[in-house]
Amino acid sequence: MHKKIRKAVFPVAGMGTRFLPATKANPKEMLPVVDKPLIQYAAEEAVEAGIDVLVFVTGRNKRSIPDHFDKAYELETELEERGKDRMLEIVKNILPPHVSCVYIRQAEALGLGHAVGCARPVVGDEPFAVILADDLVDGEGSGGALRQMVNVYERFSCSVLGVEEVPKDETHKYGVVTPEDMEPDLWAVKGIVEKPAPRDAPSNMAVVGRYILTPRIFELLENTGKGAGGEIQLTDAIASLLKEEQVLAHRFKGKRYDCGSKLGYLQATVEYALKHPELQDDFAAYLDALCAERR
Ligand code: UTP
Repeated sequence: MHKKIRKAVFPVAGMGTRFLPATKANPKEMLPVVDKPLIQYAAEEAVEAGIDVLVFVTGRNKRSIPDHFDKAYELETELEERGKDRMLEIVKNILPPHVSCVYIRQAEALGLGHAVGCARPVVGDEPFAVILADDLVDGEGSGGALRQMVNVYERFSCSVLGVEEVPKDETHKYGVVTPEDMEPDLWAVKGIVEKPAPRDAPSNMAVVGRYILTPRIFELLENTGKGAGGEIQLTDAIASLLKEEQVLAHRFKGKRYDCGSKLGYLQATVEYALKHPELQDDFAAYLDALCAERR
């Protein structure tokens, strides 16, 4: 019997240098796409996948994320007094009541692998999920990316990496796997390398911000030194893991936006606005007029 995936780790302690100065005093995971911060989309995806403990690994600008998920007494009273019932409901229901949040501090931004390792005391000896909130995934009716990956985990009881094909000249931005065919959209991972140059990349199948990992990864992370970019890389620990255990790669359905880059963030903003019930018509009309003007 496999253990249920109950906990998700959200590493939110990166420097977010590509978004400076917006990220000078705020983590990039608090950037909003239309009206919700990236971290809330990620938390909702986790809850939809059956997760009930959210573990945030925070860094120097740590306050706004706990504040976002905490009860906001003053705001709620204010909205109640003003009769803003719909807004009150939104603010009260940021997370369902059965979900709890745990915050751990990564004292120094030593890399994603190090950040995940910081979650060990909370995760313990259970398989768990990792979500990078700056990879925003719109499941487009197929369920969230993590839900789809949990479905794979429940069949195979092993680590599962979320992957997608990227243009060959962009492999240097990702962890890239050596895939072996298993089923449609599912591969056995035979190797993995962080940020390979296009000529060295084993494929164009890149890991994108979603992982289900067995707890063995924590021991391997302890013995993982600095890798690409001088950081402790999760990819390097996964490379050790797959020598001992099966690791699968799953191409989930849905559209991913790289909100860690300005272009990806803007694309997500435009496309989410075009699907937003209150905004879509006015925003589409505005975009049409703007495009006509620029032609
Ligand atoms: P990125 O590689 O996107 O780095 O981190 P970054 O520092 O956030 O952003 P840039 O490149 O400087 O603009 C991938 C994920 O790992 C987390 C980040 O918060 C992000 O979710 N991370 C990275 C940590 O939590 N700690 C680290 O030491 C490094």
